Formats: sequence, C-alpha cells, structure tokens
Amino acid sequence: MSFPETRMRRLRRNKTMLRLVRETTLAVDDLVCPLFICPGRQIQKPVPSMTNCFYYSPDKAAQKAKQIAQLGIPAVLLFSQAREKDAAGSDAFAEDAPLQQAVREIKNNVGELLVATDLCLCAYTTTGHCGIVKDKKIDNDETCRALAKAALSHAKAGADIIAPSDMMDGRVAYIREALDENDFQDIAIMAYSAKYASCFYGPFRDVAGSAPTFGDRTTYQMDPPNADQALTEIQLDIEEGADIVMVKPALAYLDVISRARERFSCPIAAYNVSGEYMMLNLAAKQQVFDLDTAMMETLLSIKRAGANIIITYFAERAAQLLRGKS
Ligand code: PBG
Repeated sequence: MSFPETRMRRLRRNKTMLRLVRETTLAVDDLVCPLFICPGRQIQKPVPSMTNCFYYSPDKAAQKAKQIAQLGIPAVLLFSQAREKDAAGSDAFAEDAPLQQAVREIKNNVGELLVATDLCLCAYTTTGHCGIVKDKKIDNDETCRALAKAALSHAKAGADIIAPSDMMDGRVAYIREALDENDFQDIAIMAYSAKYASCFYGPFRDVAGSAPTFGDRTTYQMDPPNADQALTEIQLDIEEGADIVMVKPALAYLDVISRARERFSCPIAAYNVSGEYMMLNLAAKQQVFDLDTAMMETLLSIKRAGANIIITYFAERAAQLLRGKS
C-alpha cells in the first residue's frame, strides 16, 4: 500500500499519538555521570576547559555523589589527577591515592550508588601515555601487569566496576585474572573496547593533565576509518571477560554502536566525550540552539543507535529534565 491509503502523518496527529508510537525513550537509568577527583581536602574547583564541570577532593566527592544518586542516576565514573607523576605511574595503584580515597568515601556514604573507576596510566605517568614506555615504545604486557595491580587497588577500595581505558591488548584478561585470584569475582569490568584516537578528547586531557609529551596515541587507540576492527576489539574483550563493552567517542561513531548492538548481546556503553560536550555548550552559548533541546536530541541519538549505557557530562542536567524538573 502507498499514498493515498498510507499516510504517515496519521501517527503524528498530536502529542499523545507521538507518545504512543515512540520507539526509543531515554531514561535516568541509562546515565553514568563522570566525576573528576583532585588531591587535597575540602576542594571543589571549576574545570577550566569544561563548562559546569568541577574537580572534587575525595571528601567533597561523597557530597557530590549523594546529589547524583538523589537524581536517580545509577552510577558515577571516577577519574583522578595524580599527586605526583613518575615513569611507572605509581599513583595509579597507591592505596591512599585520591581516586582510591574517593571510592572509599563514596561507598561509605552513598552505598547504593555504583562506583566505576577509569583505569589508565596516562594521568600518572610522566610521559602522559596510557602505558609504560620503554625505548620510546609502549610496552604492552608490562602495562597490563601494572593495570592489573591498579585494578586490584580500585577493587580493594570498594569499586563496583573497573573501566580500563588504555587500549592495550589482553588487558581485560589480566585484570579479570587478578580480580578473581583475590576474591573479587563479583567486580564487573566495563572495557573501553572500541576507543578511537580522537580529537574529541581535547578538553579532557587538560583536566587530567594527560596529554602525551611525545608522539600520539595512534599505536594503541583505534584508527577512525575502521569499524569492522571495532567489532573484533569488542569480541576479544568479551572473550577475555568484559561484562560491558564501550564505544568511544559516541557521536562520530554512532554506526559502530549500531553495528555492535546488532552483533552482541551484552550491555553496550557509549561515551559522549568532552569535545562532544563542549561542542554543544559553546554552540548554545553562541545561540546556535537551545542547550537542553540539543542535549536531549543528542543523548537520544546515542540511545537509538543502540547504546544502553550513556556516559555523559550532561548526566545531571538530563536526569533533572527526565524527572520533570526545570
Ligand atoms: C584516559 C581517558 C581519556 C578519556 C577517558 N579516559 C583521554 C584519552 O584517551 O586521551 C577521554 C574522556 C573525554 O574526552 O571525555 N585514557
């Protein structure tokens, strides 16, 4: 059947009809809110490169986490600055480092909120690379061993989900084994499986002070033209024990999210990264569009592509709107 029998506008006659036939809905349950941790006490200071984002010292992080939980957001994803950087990235696995402290504070005060921890060396190494550097090259297996050690320190602090973002080969297997050997078999792994070497991480690298001091990340992060390869990366991570897989960034890679959704049945997370966040903020500031409207349309596009978990700096604002508060 075709026009005039078929009229698509029948299903768009009014707002109630639109509600009835809506295929995708965004929910507060889909959101993960990133939190930036800094060393010190009683600190809450703005992140210069990112509108409405703040650093929190571990003690302050718990207060912030409580507000996030009250909005109904199920999880936070913690990032931290190092107290001091060195070649081995030691502060990544120190039990008293800010990230580990913040995990303890949050779990002690807001127990029901899931705490995921970003696991990487780039904020902790003097080179700013995600791995241990030997002769100007990233040593894959040595990095995996360091990551497994750091993952254990996160788990001991009480993390619910460990999220490796380094893109070393085999790291999920190393981390899973270390966790299981130490009785942390219930701690989940959310792997940054298809993480692209993207310019959209720019504002974030200022936050973590994690820009590489030489070269770039193209020997470990994925090359933007590749999508079949992303599916291989995801499959390998699932085989190694990842519980949740991730595509990052989200917007320039919606096709990858959608193909991953068709192929795999595990939860798929998408990371709406710092550059994507600032794109909307700056455009709205220039009156290109209304920020809330652009934000909701963007988050919905990520959900529609097939992500069931959306990590976004918009999480709190989106949750407010979804709960009907202005
Ligand atoms: C660390 C890491 C990065 C991001 C998350 N974890 C930066 C990078 O890989 O350079 C980016 C987050 C964002 O841009 O919002 N490996």
